Amino acid sequence: MRSIPPVPDDQSLRLWPENWLGPVNLDSEWDQTGPRAIDLGCGKGRFLLAHAAHHPNMRLLGIERKLRRVRKIDRKAVRAELQNIRLLRIEAIYAMKYLIPEKWIDICYIYFPDPWPKDKHADNRLLSPDFLDILERTLADKGVVHFATDHEPYFEQVVETLNADSRWRDTDPYILQEDEVSDFELIHRDQKPIHRLSFQRKN
Ligand SMILES: C[S@@+](CC[C@H](N)C(=O)[O-])C[C@H]1O[C@@H](n2cnc3c(N)ncnc32)[C@H](O)[C@@H]1O
Repeated sequence: MRSIPPVPDDQSLRLWPENWLGPVNLDSEWDQTGPRAIDLGCGKGRFLLAHAAHHPNMRLLGIERKLRRVRKIDRKAVRAELQNIRLLRIEAIYAMKYLIPEKWIDICYIYFPDPWPKDKHADNRLLSPDFLDILERTLADKGVVHFATDHEPYFEQVVETLNADSRWRDTDPYILQEDEVSDFELIHRDQKPIHRLSFQRKN
C-alpha cells in the first residue's frame, strides 16, 4: 500500500488547504501584495523559482501533479529563502475549477503543457474551449495568459480556439530573462521552434 505524504513542516511552502472542495482563501497565504500569478504544470520549477526571485512582491502559486517535482521546488525555494512562492500538488483542472477563487489570477503562465501528440488523445490537452471558461472565472479583469509550446499542432489548435472566442485579445508576450527559461524549454529550444502566445481578458 502506498503511504500518504506527510503534512509539510513549518518551513514548507506547500499548501495543505483545510477544505479541498471549494475555493481556498489564498490571499491569507502571502504577506506580499503584488500581482497574483499561477504557473500551471510548473514541472521542476526553473521558471517559477527564477521568476519569484526577480519579482519578490509577486504572489506566485505553482501547480503540479508530480509530488517529487513539487518537493524539489519546495526545497529549492526554502533554501533560496524565496518568500513569495506557494505550491499545490494537484491536478490542474481540478485546482482551477474548484480551488482558485473567482478572479484571483492576474497572470497565468502555461509553459509547455503536455502536448498529447496523438490525434486520438488531443482532447486531453489543457487549453480547450472548456478551459477558457474556467479561465474566465478565475482570471482578474484584464488578466493575462502566457502560453508556450514546442508542439505546432497544439499551438495551432489554441490559436483556432481563441479566434473562435470573442472574450480574449492578444497581448504583449512576457520576455523571459535567461535564468527564467523553463526546464523544458532549455532541453528543447535548440531542436525545435518554440511557439508563444499571450492573451488577455477583454474586461
Ligand atoms: C512538459 S512539462 C513542462 C514543465 C514546465 N512548465 C516547463 O516548461 O519546464 C509538463 C508538466 O505539467 C505537469 N502536468 C501535466 N498535466 C498536468 C495536470 N493535469 N495537472 C497538473 N500538472 C500537470 C507534468 O507533470 C509536467 O511536470
